[in-house]
Amino acid sequence: MFSNNAVKAVILSSLLVLAGLAPIHANAACQLVSTKDGSPLDIKVTPEDTPEAKEFLATCVNPYTKRAVADADVAKSGKKLFGYWSCTQCHGGNAGGQTGPSATDATWQYSKHITDKGIFETVAGGSNAGMPTWHSQPAGNPELLKTDEILRIIGWLRTMYAGGGDKPWLNETPQK
Ligand code: HEC
Repeated sequence: MFSNNAVKAVILSSLLVLAGLAPIHANAACQLVSTKDGSPLDIKVTPEDTPEAKEFLATCVNPYTKRAVADADVAKSGKKLFGYWSCTQCHGGNAGGQTGPSATDATWQYSKHITDKGIFETVAGGSNAGMPTWHSQPAGNPELLKTDEILRIIGWLRTMYAGGGDKPWLNETPQK
């Protein structure tokens, strides 16, 4: 069934992985940076993470963004979390802005917010100008949000976008 060479190749690649010499898929990681100072934003995969959270932390692509367009229930789950975590208090019920800025117009606080990675970095790690740190890991508070919850919120926010022009977040590809 398998040729001798194929068997040898499998054995060789297994040995390289064991020796730590070959890249394995599980090592792929999205390099998140803090919006505050550009330093690495250390968010790790946890055993409780959903497949979607794991996919994002490996590729920087938020699987909920495309899904929320096609499935109103996915979008709704993000909107619900936006209310549950009181994001509404600063950004308004539909994220159109209140004391905090609108998250649905074409005016982004940081240019990187046209990517889901960039917006995730600001929501997860906070900013120097009034956006709190929401992710449980950088906040050091297990009561706060998990990766999956932030991704669902972003998926919903993208469906609320009313700023016109391109929607580059619908065409993101996994980082290499
Ligand atoms: C205490 C008020 C406050 C709360 C609560 C709050 N934010 Fe913010 N948010 C801000 C401020 C202020 C900014 C602008 C930060 C800056 O420019 O550095 C911001 C920025 C943002 C942006 C970027 C908007 C843009 O136009 O670029 C997003 C997205 C966002 N917040 C999402 C959230 C989410 C999701 C939650 C809830 C988990 C939340 N915010 C809760 C105050 C708040």
